[in-house]
Amino acid sequence: MLNIEQISKVFYPGTVNEKVAIEYIDLRVLEGDFITVVGSNGSGKSTLFNLIGGTFPVTSGKITLNDKDVTHTPEYKRAFTIGRIFQDPTVGTAAKMSIEDNMITAYKKGMKGLKISLNNTKRAYFKEELKQLKIGLEDRLKDNVGLLSGGQRQALTLLMTVLSKPQMLLLDEHTAALDPRNAQIVMDLTTEFIEKYHLTTLMVTHNMQHAITYGNRLIMMDEGKIILDVRGEEKKQLTVLKLVDLFKKIKHQEYSSDEDLLAP
Ligand SMILES: Nc1ncnc2c1ncn2[C@@H]1O[C@H](COP(=O)(O)OP(=O)(O)O)[C@@H](O)[C@H]1O
Ligand SMILES: [Mg+2]
Repeated sequence: MLNIEQISKVFYPGTVNEKVAIEYIDLRVLEGDFITVVGSNGSGKSTLFNLIGGTFPVTSGKITLNDKDVTHTPEYKRAFTIGRIFQDPTVGTAAKMSIEDNMITAYKKGMKGLKISLNNTKRAYFKEELKQLKIGLEDRLKDNVGLLSGGQRQALTLLMTVLSKPQMLLLDEHTAALDPRNAQIVMDLTTEFIEKYHLTTLMVTHNMQHAITYGNRLIMMDEGKIILDVRGEEKKQLTVLKLVDLFKKIKHQEYSSDEDLLAP
C-alpha cells in the first residue's frame, strides 16, 4: 500500500549546515501492517513521516501510495489517505472550538467534500462515537476543547483522525507527552481503532516495550537509515534486552567495518 524507494532528505544542501536526515531508505508497507519505529533522537523518524505525509519534498527517491506516485502530491491531498497524530496534544484539535465543531470538521474531511452541516442526527452520532473513548466526553459536546486535559485531547484527536477516514495512520510518539495512565488509555484506544477500521499504521515510540508489544513489524532507525527490520515470529520473540543488544551489535559492526576501512 505504501512503497518507498530510495528516498533521501538533505536539509540546507551545499551549506555549512547541510544535514543528511534520511539516507536512501527503501520501505514497503503492506496493507494491514502495524509497524513500530524506534531510534535515538535525531535518527530521522519524524523526517521520514514528514516525507511520507508530504510536509517536506524529498531530495531524491519515489513514494507510491496505493500504486499511485505521490512523490510530488501536496500534503493536504495526501492527508485524505494519511492521518497523522503528533506528540503535542494541542496540535490535532482546535482549542477555541467546541468538541462537536472539531468533530464535524474531521467528519467533513472523511466525506471528501460533500456538503455537510451539524444537526441533531450528527450530534447523536458524535455522542455515540465519543462513548467509545470511555472518558465521559459524550456529555460535553458543547465544551471548548481547550478545557480538556492532554489525555482527553489526544483521545479526541485519535477519534477525529478515524472519523476523517484515513487508510493509513502515522503516529509520532503520540502518547509521549501523557502521564502513564493516560498514555495507556490512548494506546488501548489506538489498538482498538487500528483493528476496527483496518488502519495500516506506522508508530514511532520511545517506549521499547510498546515497540515490541504492539504491531507485526518493528524497524529501528539510526543516522537516517533503517538498521533493523524485524517481523512476525521473530518480532514476537523480541525482548527489550535483545533489542538493545541487537542495536549494540549493529553499531559495533559499523564501527569495526570503519576500522577495517582505515586499516593499512
Ligand atoms: N526542518 C528541519 N530543518 C533542518 N533540519 C532538520 C529539520 N527537521 C529535522 N532536521 C534534522 O534532521 C535530523 C533528523 O531529525 P528528526 O527526523 O526530527 O529525528 P527524530 O524524529 O528521529 O528524533 C536531525 O539532525 C534534525 O536536526
Ligand atoms: Mg521525532
